[in-house]
Amino acid sequence: MSQKYWDELYKKNETPWEKGEASPGLVDFLTAHPELSRGTVLVPGCGTGHDARVWAKFGFTVTGYDIAPSAVALAKEKTAAAFLTADFKLGDFLRDEPPQLFDWIFEHTCFCAIQPDERELYVAAVQRWLKPGGQYVAVNYLIPDTDGPPFGTTREEIVERFSPVFTLVEDWVPRSYENRTGLERMFWWKKG
Ligand SMILES: C[S@@+](CC[C@H](N)C(=O)[O-])C[C@H]1O[C@@H](n2cnc3c(N)ncnc32)[C@H](O)[C@@H]1O
Repeated sequence: MSQKYWDELYKKNETPWEKGEASPGLVDFLTAHPELSRGTVLVPGCGTGHDARVWAKFGFTVTGYDIAPSAVALAKEKTAAAFLTADFKLGDFLRDEPPQLFDWIFEHTCFCAIQPDERELYVAAVQRWLKPGGQYVAVNYLIPDTDGPPFGTTREEIVERFSPVFTLVEDWVPRSYENRTGLERMFWWKKG
């Protein structure tokens, strides 16, 4: 989907993914793991920045990246209003060269937002933007839909695509927004 497609949805306020709060699974993950080293985090397809702000609240150095100028503007506004610090940049996660490498990447409704035939590009981008030994935490949307976005996936597809280059630390069913209960699965991967 093009930059124009996503930006117009934000401009028309047609953003059904926007829940006004961070992914419950992410909040639980960070709460359950106070031992994680506080490095840099990239949130690709960050939207208005709820997840990025949670990583910031937990003490990480966060960059949100989104292809839609309106999303980046909203993310900056909301972050300033919350008196939090996070950097938000405009760009195409799939195709851009990373300006820096990150210790962590957090995925939430970006993988399901891109065209399924771009998924190879997505896996390559996660590899490219992560430091050696970096970690990738994903909330994947396991729905059957083929007429997205969102486009569904399965646990089998995720494992098949990511396990050649990442080691699976753990995967589990997270707490979700009410209308996604039972439809999400979290994966915690380590590069290499
Ligand atoms: C379904 S929305 C989810 C936004 C946010 N993750 C959330 O859950 O609220 C998908 C987001 O990915 C962004 N996006 C789509 N393709 C992208 C790409 N290639 N690079 C960066 N962002 C992208 C869109 O602009 C949109 O903000």
